[in-house]
Amino acid sequence: MALVNVSGLRKSFGKTDVLKGVDFQVERGEVISIIGPSGSGKTTMLRCVNLLERPTGGRIEVDSRVLCEEQANGSMTFADKAAIREAREHIGMVFQRFNLFPHMTAVENVIEAPIAVKNVPKPEATARAHELLEAVGLGHKGDSYPMQLSGGQQQRVAIARALAMDPTLMLFDEVTSAVDPELAGEILLVMKRLAEQGMTMLVVTHEMGFAAEVADRVLFIDHGRIVEQGPAADVLQNPSHERTKAFLHAVLDRAPMEAEVEEAAEGLVDDLLVRPERIGGDDDGS
Ligand SMILES: Nc1ncnc2c1ncn2[C@@H]1O[C@H](COP(=O)(O)OP(=O)(O)OP(=O)(O)O)[C@@H](O)[C@H]1O
Ligand SMILES: [Mg+2]
Repeated sequence: MALVNVSGLRKSFGKTDVLKGVDFQVERGEVISIIGPSGSGKTTMLRCVNLLERPTGGRIEVDSRVLCEEQANGSMTFADKAAIREAREHIGMVFQRFNLFPHMTAVENVIEAPIAVKNVPKPEATARAHELLEAVGLGHKGDSYPMQLSGGQQQRVAIARALAMDPTLMLFDEVTSAVDPELAGEILLVMKRLAEQGMTMLVVTHEMGFAAEVADRVLFIDHGRIVEQGPAADVLQNPSHERTKAFLHAVLDRAPMEAEVEEAAEGLVDDLLVRPERIGGDDDGS
């Protein structure tokens, strides 16, 4: 049984239909990259998975827990508060904007939730925090406050903080887009390692290199609908929809010129596979 089962997911804000019936599954250990234009509904979709947004229709099940379900009469039923809280404990999320607590050191940020939510004793939580910071290449930054860290380092602390809850699923929403491009690589490398360790991950990203190299499947969303999904190589190298082709060319800063589309699509994957080399570089931006 898939870890995440989403079917018929709809979300409206007032009269704006943002998600118009989205279906997808995520198997355990699978890494899925979600790509699509700005405003297509990627963040909304991700936030629905842990009910940070309340869907207006459809069904979401995570790790055999039904979080919400549309009834035959169209009304929505939601899991009770305790069940939602429990489900969220197993879902780690890292956002685009660094959302560390500014008045806490890296270690204090990482131990906060395990102590507050899971009653982990402080010495144990602290030891684990040091391990996790080590794992994201920040073993020496435990006592630093967020403002003393680069954007890339802050995001890696945010990843360590999410991992401290031992999640079964990690959600990433454009975690590299607010950092300097040269710092994106160190975040992507951490995410790649996490993927290799078998973490189930849903990754909204503009980093096509990451999608090509790390994702098992790529899901292209446009105007609140999944236009296509499939193995990363298929969607990125050989997209079946014009919309996907146009998007892929746009993100690679190529003008989608009709006559060249076919030829360029062939060259595309070479570009995609060259770019990930950036993430193999030095792990520590400090
Ligand atoms: N809280 C909200 N209230 C009203 N409209 C919203 C809200 N959140 C999102 N929207 C609208 O929903 C649409 C999809 O937004 P969403 O943030 O999911 O897009 P996105 O694909 O993540 O875009 P980006 O790539 O720019 O992050 C947009 O038109 C946005 O304005
Ligand atoms: Mg977004």
